[in-house]
Amino acid sequence: MKRIAVFTSGGDAPGMNACIRATVRGAIYHQIEAYGILRGYDGLIKGDLMPLDSPAVSNIIQKGGTILKSARSKAFMTKEGRAKAFEQLQQRGIEGLVAIGGDGTFTGAKAFYEEFGIPTIGAPGTIDNDLYGTDYTIGYDTAVNTALEAIDKIRDTADSHDRIFFVEVMGRDAGYIGIFCGIAGGAELVMVPETTTTIEEVIQTLKQGWRSSKTSSIIIVAEGDEEGNATEIAKKIKQKVSDQFDMRVTTLGHIQRGGSPTARDRILASRLGLGAVEGLLSGKKNAMVGVCNDQLVYTPFEEAIGKEKPISQTLIDMVKILSI
Ligand code: F6P
Repeated sequence: MKRIAVFTSGGDAPGMNACIRATVRGAIYHQIEAYGILRGYDGLIKGDLMPLDSPAVSNIIQKGGTILKSARSKAFMTKEGRAKAFEQLQQRGIEGLVAIGGDGTFTGAKAFYEEFGIPTIGAPGTIDNDLYGTDYTIGYDTAVNTALEAIDKIRDTADSHDRIFFVEVMGRDAGYIGIFCGIAGGAELVMVPETTTTIEEVIQTLKQGWRSSKTSSIIIVAEGDEEGNATEIAKKIKQKVSDQFDMRVTTLGHIQRGGSPTARDRILASRLGLGAVEGLLSGKKNAMVGVCNDQLVYTPFEEAIGKEKPISQTLIDMVKILSI
């Protein structure tokens, strides 16, 4: 293998730049050329590629977002789109890909490999931490810390006004951001899609808190919870208890996707970028590189996107135990 290309795709995540840097520098170290593809699969189809040398990835390890930009490509979901993408790689003699993204990115990479045989290694980059085959994904730690900073601030005002705050965090269908924020932020309750929490249970938790002389509460709601988003949940509660509690809702939103990556995310991203290049060079393909129990592991795309990564029940129980 003499030439590879790297791209970022799907929702951006802090640490993607550190991963791009590690991929490019890892390639140069192993004496292969690196190309960057702009805007993920869309850029690949359009031929938006450029060679990346070492200075091109200088001074980016600390930056949020992605210098290669990102997109969710509809065109790549079609066979015609993927055929155009293959042509672009052929024209430039690119023999391998490093795909930084989440499950949508790897679904595309798997289809592409199956049709055209281009070896691809995925590096898990998503704040959602929802991929099997890695303990953590690039961006998750930063997103949790960003959300936590906001939650700490919300607690100050919640406490001053004796209020209940419903704080909605991202995560799509996964409750990983929610559960870590709940534990680290000392929340009274966490509502995540992985467990069922009824409106009645929320009301009971709030009433118990009030009986044990708590005058403010923080409920973390993961956006994918089965009872709805934070606004809907607060509305349902209000309908049942009327004005018994003074409630407010804060949706943290895309703030969780930005900002300078934490040391943990930079280190994880660096390991995964280099691991992706070395995986390609050792003949690995159609797989995601991850870190499990501090060891680099390669998991076939099929498993990384198809298998569930369950949240530990111990962590879920811990929020309740520690909020008495
Ligand atoms: O997958 C990352 C993520 O931020 C999810 O947590 C969230 O549901 C989604 O992307 C938001 O997507 P968009 O930026 O397209 O609104």
